[in-house]
Amino acid sequence: MSRRPIIAGNWKMHNLMQDAIDLTNGVMAGLKEYNKEDLPTVIIAPTFTSLYAANKALTDCGCGKVRLGAQNCYFEPKGAFTGEVTVEMLKDTGCEYVIIGHSERRQYFSETDEMINKKAKAILAGGLLPIICCGETLEQREAGVTDSHIASQIRKALDGLSTEDVAKSVIAYEPIWAIGTGKTCDADEANRVIAMIRNTVREMFGSAADQIRILYGGSVKPETIEEQMSKSDIDGALVGGASLKADSFVKIVTGAMAVRA
Ligand code: PGA
Repeated sequence: MSRRPIIAGNWKMHNLMQDAIDLTNGVMAGLKEYNKEDLPTVIIAPTFTSLYAANKALTDCGCGKVRLGAQNCYFEPKGAFTGEVTVEMLKDTGCEYVIIGHSERRQYFSETDEMINKKAKAILAGGLLPIICCGETLEQREAGVTDSHIASQIRKALDGLSTEDVAKSVIAYEPIWAIGTGKTCDADEANRVIAMIRNTVREMFGSAADQIRILYGGSVKPETIEEQMSKSDIDGALVGGASLKADSFVKIVTGAMAVRA
């Protein structure tokens, strides 16, 4: 079963509006010479305040090679939730994907497995696709509880979803100790954990496990992507720091493409 790879750029809390427009245009310029059909699914996830502008840059170009994602959403459809943004609002700005459960949101904004599950349901009900993040701390890894912790995060995040929705969804395995540290997880170990995640999905949803795309994230760089993409279960990458420069992000996209061609 061949799954179309995904390379997603998580811009985190970076870039003013003009920077976001420039970076969006830079990514599209870097991908100009490639056929859309040959490319992975390429996603950029700017901050809320730059979504409209990035979407305008994407639609003005009209190449259709880059999709838009958001970094968070709220699960309620409307109401008195000061500071929050709904799935419909994200759809309205051209988003197709929403990152949820990033370790930074779990750690700094108290996002729980239950909230992530509600967000996943709201995103799918609204016609968008979730990129559900999971990952262990260094302490958990050293205590030997990586697999049980991640399997639990996945079971809770996917609880009550339909098989059809799970098949379309995306998971990102991001060991917390590898995020923003320059310490990439060994590709064989990342592949082992991702295969374990796929197995967990199979126990819950059967053959949807062959369709769901599971990415690796954590200090992905142009130099690491080819080895990562050569592994059986790694379907792409969620890229933080290296997605903030068009040339390094484009190199990651084309590196992934070269391996899966
Ligand atoms: P990093 O971030 O590539 O800068 O490690 C990845 C992420 O947090 O999604």
